[in-house]
Amino acid sequence: MVSVVERLNAWRSSGRPRKAPLSRERERGVNAAAGATSGVLTGARIDIRKVSHRFGSADDQLQVLDDVDLNVAPGEFVALLGPSGCGKSTLLRLVAGLDQPSSGDILQDGTPITEPDPSRIVVFQDPTLYPWRRVWDNVALGLQARGILAQERHRVDEALRRVGLETFARAFPHQLSGGMAQRVALARALVNDPRLLVLDEPLGKLDSLTRLAMQSDLVDLWQRSRFSALLVTHDVEEALFLAQRVIIFSQRPARITAQIRVDLPYPRHRGDPRLTGLRHEALRHLGLDASW
Ligand SMILES: Nc1ncnc2c1ncn2[C@@H]1O[C@H](COP(=O)(O)OP(=O)(O)OP(=O)(O)O)[C@@H](O)[C@H]1O
Ligand SMILES: [Mg+2]
Repeated sequence: MVSVVERLNAWRSSGRPRKAPLSRERERGVNAAAGATSGVLTGARIDIRKVSHRFGSADDQLQVLDDVDLNVAPGEFVALLGPSGCGKSTLLRLVAGLDQPSSGDILQDGTPITEPDPSRIVVFQDPTLYPWRRVWDNVALGLQARGILAQERHRVDEALRRVGLETFARAFPHQLSGGMAQRVALARALVNDPRLLVLDEPLGKLDSLTRLAMQSDLVDLWQRSRFSALLVTHDVEEALFLAQRVIIFSQRPARITAQIRVDLPYPRHRGDPRLTGLRHEALRHLGLDASW
């Protein structure tokens, strides 16, 4: 899968007309996001309306999404759970603007999503860092692609500070652990001050201890920055630990079969008996509760 940064680079080098400089309103939004520690709500509202999606030609079609309706409120953290191959990553790609749905609409703050935009950043399972670029230069990619790095260098330092890697700014990717590399990928996303963070199994390849630590870090980053977040994970505990709402999908073509509101304050305690109850409920909706 092509990362958004690579997309942005390809987009830039394709000779496609560059977007106009940020409007005053947009600039204010970016600045508000940069100062989001003040608690300003900057997350995007996402409306997914009756979205269906098919791959293939008319005589050989694969229906992947079936009439999906889902809203993400500004600053909300929503997790998606569902069987492998049901269509979760496809839905994230549509929300990111990397593809267009076969039918239905996806809106950000009331405006149709038709192409990738730096306000929506995707983080994948694989950090996909450029091995020849130092950590700092990897994090700087998005700003560089947008042609604003020279005046915004401090944002790279700030993003590295936010993920606790400021002392590794000069390191190369091969000098990092897996967890650190994924932290760099997060910093590369955060440097853009995203209004929506799209997370496709971002912790899936980490060992279990690093994964637990990164889950707490993600909550912390989200609480400080207040972007909206749409997370795909196969880990029921992870979904319940992180999200305010967990959406459960059927087998392909993915339909929403249930949603669970996780009405617990942050930071959450993994041993909270209410989480155990919700876990049971989620597994039941996934048809996996036989051993519980
Ligand atoms: N570009 C594509 N062209 C054709 N079929 C595709 C394409 N991308 C995905 N698919 C198919 O769509 C279905 C859903 O894929 P998707 O990657 O969205 O599943 P997923 O829910 O993310 O699965 P997993 O949990 O294993 O990551 C799969 O059957 C896959 O083969
Ligand atoms: Mg997937």
